[in-house]
Amino acid sequence: MKGVILHGGHGTRLRPLTHTGPKQLIPVANKPMSQYALEDLRDSGVNDIAIVVGDSLSNKVQNYYKNGQEFGVRTTYIHQKQPNGIAHAISLAEDFVGDSPFIVYLGDNLLKGKIAEFVKVFKESNFDAMILLCKVKNPQRFGVAKFDKSGNLLELVEKPKEPPSNYALTGIYFLKPIIFKIIKGLKPSWRGELEITEALQGLLDSGHPIGYKFVTGWWKDTGTVEDILEANRLVLDDIKKEAEGIIEENTSIQGRVTIGKETIIRRGALIRGPAIIGRSTVVEKHVFVGPYTSIGNNVKIKRGEIENSIIMDGCQIEINGKITDSLIGAGTTLTTNQRSPKGCRLVVGENSRIVL
Ligand code: DAU
Repeated sequence: MKGVILHGGHGTRLRPLTHTGPKQLIPVANKPMSQYALEDLRDSGVNDIAIVVGDSLSNKVQNYYKNGQEFGVRTTYIHQKQPNGIAHAISLAEDFVGDSPFIVYLGDNLLKGKIAEFVKVFKESNFDAMILLCKVKNPQRFGVAKFDKSGNLLELVEKPKEPPSNYALTGIYFLKPIIFKIIKGLKPSWRGELEITEALQGLLDSGHPIGYKFVTGWWKDTGTVEDILEANRLVLDDIKKEAEGIIEENTSIQGRVTIGKETIIRRGALIRGPAIIGRSTVVEKHVFVGPYTSIGNNVKIKRGEIENSIIMDGCQIEINGKITDSLIGAGTTLTTNQRSPKGCRLVVGENSRIVL
């Protein structure tokens, strides 16, 4: 069994963060989103993994995962010049896959329940494909499955205006090489892409059996800032209490908080979990880090309060107020203007979102 992680795409809804890197490298609880996919594959015994990278900043993906050794896998990189669709990205992996069954994992999908048990089911089945479904409130945003009364899979539709059910296709597909033949016959959809949902429909139409399973626990597709913050909360809900750094006396660490090596939490600071603080970070006295916050490596928080946010590596924060529900890109400096005239002084990149 081989694995294919999709790491390309548009990322437009996450600008400006996607100006400097692919969205799948945005950290959730201090780990790039796509690393959850890679580790889930590895933990299910899938060690030979192709990563399909997009045209922009793909070097960042290669610099992070390298040959995969550090993560216990072997990685191969495949370049997709244009984001022409999930099925298009999959088709580029044909040589890599050969005649092996394989799993495609969208690099922006997170799954609590893990896939190991589904890999076993697929291996032992006669299915030509298997999909994972999740009950959702907003099926219009996803590929959706239609069943008959006996539970037979009838149809798969991409982002239907009138969804035939509440069961969304998650971005984890168990496939066999027959899919490549079907993809070759696809035409671009209304959004100009070769759709995996249509490829699966093509399999069904030509009489190839497709199995389905329901995910256990939560599943999150992280298209927007709100989705990423929610994924961060979901992952932090399971975080362990673990402190490796230096925690001075008279600090208050409440609940489940993970603190990385060489991090210093100064006296008088208050950290309320669930939260994670990375390596070599300094949290000064009187700083408050509230629930559902992830703070990266080499961050300096001199003053201020932070809650329900992701602060990436190398940020410096010295503010009078509170940051909440925010995603702060690596290397950002946030300070309060102490001088006259008072007011907000901003140096902000294109397509940023600021709520004052
Ligand atoms: O997340 C599950 C959903 O993913 C499914 O329910 C839908 O059926 C499926 O079409 C897909 O929908 P999205 O609209 O969310 O797909 P998106 O364009 O966001 O791309 C999903 C991932 O695949 C993302 O990590 C980027 C990557 N990708 C996407 C395209 C279009 C590529 O690597 N190359 C591409 O050309």
